[in-house]
Amino acid sequence: MIQWYPGHMAKAKKEIISNLKLVDVVYEIVDARIPRSSRNPDFDEITKRKKKIMLLNKEDLADERITDLWIKHFKEKGIEAVKVNAITGKGFKELEEKTKEVCKDILEAKVKKGLTPRLRGMILGIPNVGKSTFINTLIGRKKAKTGDKPGVTKSLHWIRTPYLDLLDTPGVLWPKFEDKTTGFMLAITGAIKDEILEMEEVALFLVSILKNRYPDYLINRYKLDKIWEEEIKIIEDIGKKRGCLVSGGEVDFVKASTVLLEDFRKGNLGRISLEEP
Ligand code: G4P
Repeated sequence: MIQWYPGHMAKAKKEIISNLKLVDVVYEIVDARIPRSSRNPDFDEITKRKKKIMLLNKEDLADERITDLWIKHFKEKGIEAVKVNAITGKGFKELEEKTKEVCKDILEAKVKKGLTPRLRGMILGIPNVGKSTFINTLIGRKKAKTGDKPGVTKSLHWIRTPYLDLLDTPGVLWPKFEDKTTGFMLAITGAIKDEILEMEEVALFLVSILKNRYPDYLINRYKLDKIWEEEIKIIEDIGKKRGCLVSGGEVDFVKASTVLLEDFRKGNLGRISLEEP
């Protein structure tokens, strides 16, 4: 996992801007569960004047109704977005169609010049949104982590698909460090290290969202009798139900918090969106 420093960020930005010159279209990958918090703060500025498509990835983990609201929301702001699952390739066909639509003028110009109507693109996004997974699935490659180094590294390779040549190495951008809520959102989804924020604090924040928006998911998963107003009591109940106890029979809050966060990240609670447009 990367630690970001101003020097890294400047370097990443510089390398990405230089690679942008090579492409027609930029794909911004975000986590569909947190489309606001998982965007890089400088993305729009870095990619200005480029054709852009947003990929709402991990759609399998997000609440579909809300993901569709996000797509509508971004469209209203002039950003085309497509929901995808980078592991299974769901949504890739729609992405192809959307790409051709967004880049229609470029394709037509190529045809006019007698060139093959192919496009060049690159992937950008903060760590852990699924950039490597997307690239690997696109070309049917098993697993090769394309690197956690800031920016785009080493020599450039292109992945060929019937309509698109995609840069093999995604541009890794830094996450938002704006406010505590954003930090919690990134921590809950595993986009930033668990050590950065206290596990229990992160779990309490997750419970504060779930108890209002998805209470039944908590009740069903942990066979809870009721949902308390106080988040800490909900975690305590989860700990009791899961046998997360320290000697003496008290609930081990760190353990209970870990159980909840792991269940959330794996989608064991159900399909959950943490942010609404
Ligand atoms: P990155 O290149 O942007 O850093 O992300 P990467 O592809 O490594 O994906 C991060 C984690 O997200 C991986 O989990 C990957 O399997 C998972 N992932 C990517 N796309 C999807 C998706 O559409 N749906 C779901 N459910 N998961 C997705 P991991 O291997 O468990 O990562 P970790 O244990 O190293 O954190």
